[in-house]
Parts: sequence; C-alpha cells; structure tokens
Amino acid sequence: MKKFTSVQDVADLKDLLQEAQQLKQNPYQHKELGQNKTLGLLFLNPSLRTRMSTHIAGANLGMNVMVMNLDKEGWALETQDGAVMNGSTVEHIKEAAAVLGQYCDIIGIRSFPKLQNREEDYNEDLLHKFISYCKVPVVSLESATRHPLQSFADLLTITENTPAGKRPKVVLTWAPHVKAIPQCVANSFSEWMGQADVDLVITHPEGYELADEFTQNAQVTTNQQEALQDADFVYVKSWSSYTDYGKVLTDGEGWMMTNEKLEGTNNAKVMHCLPVRRNVELSDEILDGPNSLVLEQANNRTYAAQTVLKRLLEGLK
Ligand code: CP
Repeated sequence: MKKFTSVQDVADLKDLLQEAQQLKQNPYQHKELGQNKTLGLLFLNPSLRTRMSTHIAGANLGMNVMVMNLDKEGWALETQDGAVMNGSTVEHIKEAAAVLGQYCDIIGIRSFPKLQNREEDYNEDLLHKFISYCKVPVVSLESATRHPLQSFADLLTITENTPAGKRPKVVLTWAPHVKAIPQCVANSFSEWMGQADVDLVITHPEGYELADEFTQNAQVTTNQQEALQDADFVYVKSWSSYTDYGKVLTDGEGWMMTNEKLEGTNNAKVMHCLPVRRNVELSDEILDGPNSLVLEQANNRTYAAQTVLKRLLEGLK
C-alpha cells in the first residue's frame, strides 16, 4: 500500500479486515517493523480519537510518533499555486509538505472541508497537494470528503458483531445537529459499506442526498421508520446538505434515534463515530444502553490505523 485516503486504496478488503482482527489479538507482534521509522500526525482541525488511536497504532508498531496541530502550531499555509504571498499566509504547502516528508517516513493529515464551496472541497486540493509534495506515504486522518480510518474501524466493528455467514442490514440514518457537519463520515461509511457484505439503506430528510459516487447501489429513502425495519445495525450521523452545499435545511425534529425507534429493528446495534451530541443526535438511553457500539468503534480505531500503518511500512521496503 502506498497511501490510504479511501477504500479504493485497499486491494483486498476481506484480507485487510482479517489482518486487523489478527493484530487486535496481538498488537505488539510487529514491533520491529517500525523501528527507526517516524510517523508524523498533522492536524488542521480538532481530534480526540484519531489523534490518540493513530499514535498508539504507530507506537504498537515500534514507530517514533510526532504530532503537530498544524493550524495552531505551524505557519499559516498557502495552497494556491502562483500565489503572491503578501497576505496572511506564511508558508507554501510546497515547502511545508516537502520538509515534513524529509522528517517523516509516513504522514497522517487531517483537514476538514470549509463547507463554503463544494467544488473546492470535493477537489481535495490540500490532500492531493500534500501527497504530491511530501513524497512519502500519506494516511488521511479525515479529509474534505472522507474519513477512511473511521469507516475501516466501523466495518471491523460490524464484522465482529455479525454471526458468521449472515449478510446484515445496515442503516445509515441522518441525525439532527446544532451546526453544519461535513459529509465525510457519511460519504465514507457509504463507500465502505458498498464494498462490504452488507445491505445498506440510507435515510435522511429531503435535501440531504449524498453524492452518487459514495452511495452507489444503496437504497435511499426519506422514510426513517421504513428504513429501520429489521435493521441489524443503525449508524447515526449528521451531515449538512450536499445539493444546497453546506446548509442546514431543517431542525430535524423527529429524527433523533431513540429506543422507541429501535422497536422495529432486529434489536439493532447502534453506531456513531463520536463525538456525539447527546439527546440531539442520539438519546442517553441508547448511548448508555446495551445496543450501543460506540465505544467498540472507538477502540477499533487503533487496530484499523495499525493495519493501515503496517501495510504502508511494508510498502516502504
Ligand atoms: N471519530 C473521530 O474521528 O473522532 P475525533 O474527531 O475525535 O478524532
């Protein structure tokens, strides 16, 4: 593996999942692989899980790990080619990425979308330029359009909670939020589920359709109750509009996931990537109850990251 920015970078998803399960059994079995190798984790946005789990994953493989909050601790980055840098930006991504690529063997980077210009965000300009200029393998720690390490951990969690031979019904349901949220997690989850042995149904209010490139053959409905019927897993996530880009179109009254809504499901397990707005997106009763998988998902972030880093380290040879 040379980079990890989407499920398209994975040659064999079943094989990757199996490797994650093996690493979870014995996380320290490849401690020599990362010896004298440096992992740089760069954040242009806040993080709890991604930052800590990827750090642990690198350490489990014997890597030196450096973390930098690039937005607060680094120079203000310029990304435009040919820019006359007489304004607020101090360092061009050409130099910043090239220098970081000299210090690190693998780089992880998080850069959220601005949610102002769809074309700009969906071009993934910063991620692509960073990959191009740093010249070392790059792991997306969540980009403008995807969150592949989260989706990998989510698929691992679903696999672990599905009886052998069963093809589960997985429902991705939109949830209310107090602010506009990127489509990254929903896009990425849809894209990964499209490659997995699951039946995916997506439900959201009118106007929250995700881009076709991510939803592929999933069934899509605005009727949440109908979607939840016989579900084995319910993935709860808020996102802002893709069509009316970055906008919040409704207060989402009636869309919060509750135990009452789970009654029509196959005693569904409930998932969320976290952080979650309690009693806005998901009720206390679900989060504190037996159906919640949110902590298992967060735990699996370490093994998803470790599997990806192992593959990238192997690719360095
Ligand atoms: N789920 C997730 O990526 O969490 P953080 O934003 O805290 O890293």
